[in-house]
This record gives sequence, structure tokens and C-alpha cells, in this order.
Amino acid sequence: MALMRKSRQPKWNRRHLLGLRELTAEEITYILDTAEGFEQVSRRSVKKAPPLRGKVVVNLFFEDSTRTRTSFALAANRLSADIIEFTKKSSSVSKGETLLDTARNLEAMGIDIVVVRHGAGGAARLLSRNIKACVVNAGDGFCEHPTQALLDVYTIRKIKGSLEGLKIAIVGDIAHSRVARSDMWAMTKLGAEVIFVGPPTLMPGQVNRLPVKVSHSLDEVIEEVDVVNMLRIQFERLGGNPFPSIREYSHYFGLTVDRMKKTKPDILVMHPGPINRGLEMESEVADGGNSVILEQVTNGLAVRMAVLFLVNQAAAMEK
Ligand code: NCD
Repeated sequence: MALMRKSRQPKWNRRHLLGLRELTAEEITYILDTAEGFEQVSRRSVKKAPPLRGKVVVNLFFEDSTRTRTSFALAANRLSADIIEFTKKSSSVSKGETLLDTARNLEAMGIDIVVVRHGAGGAARLLSRNIKACVVNAGDGFCEHPTQALLDVYTIRKIKGSLEGLKIAIVGDIAHSRVARSDMWAMTKLGAEVIFVGPPTLMPGQVNRLPVKVSHSLDEVIEEVDVVNMLRIQFERLGGNPFPSIREYSHYFGLTVDRMKKTKPDILVMHPGPINRGLEMESEVADGGNSVILEQVTNGLAVRMAVLFLVNQAAAMEK
């Protein structure tokens, strides 16, 4: 009997996806497995499935986005939800309305899921505590970007079979990167070893408390890693100059054709986008045979379908 009750426990019961720090390896794996099931919807001639029919998803983006925003919109469409696009520039936020007031007004119109991107860390959590709709974090300050990390680990798992025992370098502006943080949680929980690589000025405070190794030299680690994830320098979040010149940064931390000659032959080259070609990565590398950057984008769709589906299902179960 006890066994039966246990097997009936849902594998996912969260109405919100705020970050990966709080998720177990089993929950992360469950999202990835669910995403695998959704991949085939995008291969059909009619690219639609019905699970979110009659539901309303709002893309509430206070920061710019190309991939994440489009990917969530497409994911909502493929699940048959209605999608509302909200941008800071054309809304009453420019007249001084707060995040909470904005969300509460949207909620008064009967929305079911809010996908939120905001420059302030904790914005998604704040919303989740104050509105009834499901909240999905699409990037908050430099705290977390859970769906980016989920699509990263999904891509690695798909190609390498598993993350267990892999060595993964995350390179560049770690201090200001929500991708690095979410990646770190997802990758280590799934059994990979993560090395943060970058100049000391771009490392987060108290980095030694995080479950990662730290290196200040890309050359020191490039030969041994299975995956390298190159980050964009978050110029919009930088105060002051963290390195003497862009040229010098590229020289020490850029993924160049020359450096690629030293890597394992099957190394995966990743980047969350947008790429600054010639800065964190040479064009030949971004477009080269080891690059899986566009596969990441493709996989993001199935992952976001899974996330929207699962939070909606958890909300339905609570009712
Ligand atoms: C990332 C972001 O916004 O945090 N982009 C993305 O979502 N694909 C990374 C970045 O902007 O550098």
C-alpha cells in the first residue's frame, strides 16, 4: 500500500519555475524527459498539441531578448495557449507603474502563466508570492536563468548521453551571468564537474563557496574539458573596467581557432547568445563543426514547452 502511494506521487508539483538551485536532480531530469516527448510535436506537419488550450501565457519582458522571448512564445503557441506580448517600452511601466502593479493588472484579465524577465534579481520570486498565476523565470538580474540552463543540459545529454563525469568549462563574465549560475546548479546536480574560467575581476564574490573549480586561464583547462560554454560579457551590468582592453580579454579568454587545436576532438562548443563575434569567440569557431549553438536554440523550444506544460499541470492539480 505504502509502495502504491509512493508510486502515485507526482514527479513534478511546482506551479512556478524560479530557479534550478532549489530543484532536485530528479526534477531536472523529469523536465528533460518531458521535453524529449515534446520534440516530436515540432516535427509534425501541424505543429500543435492541445494541452494548454484555453490558457493565457504572458511574456512579461523588462529586458531585451531575442531567443528566450520568441522561444517561449512559440512554445506557448505549439501547446495551443494564447500568448500576450508585453514590452517595457510600449507599456505603462514607462509611466512609472511597478512590476507588481503591472502583473496584478494583467492577472485581473485572467492570465494563467507569467513568463518574466527582469533586471532585478528575485523579481520572479516576488511575483510568485503575490499573484495567483504560475510564474516562470526567464532571467532575473544576474541570479538565475533556469530555462537556458535546462536547454544547455538537454543539449549536452542528447549528444553525450549523460552529464555524469563530464568536465565543463564556463568561460568569461561569470560575475554578471545568470546563465553561469543556473548552469552550475543544473550541471553539478546531474553529475558534471564545472570549472568557472575568467579573470579574477569577473568572478563572483565568495566563489569558493560554490560547487565549482575556478581557473584564471583558459589554456590551463581547454585540453581536458568535454564542453565549453562561452559567455557574453554583460556590458550593461558592468560598473567600471574589469579588464584593461577587449583585445587583451580575447587574447586570454577568447575561443580562437588556435585554441580549438588543443581541445578534445569531440568537445562541444556552446554559447547562450547573443554572441559578440571576435570577442568571446572567433566566427570560425562559432560556425565550426564542434559548435552546437543553434542546436541549443532548437532544443530550447521543447524544453520551454515542457516547462509551461508542467507548471500548468501542477497548478491544475492544486485546484
Ligand atoms: C542570456 C541572458 O539574457 O541572460 N541570453 C539568453 O537568454 N539567451 C545571456 C546573455 O544575454 O548574454
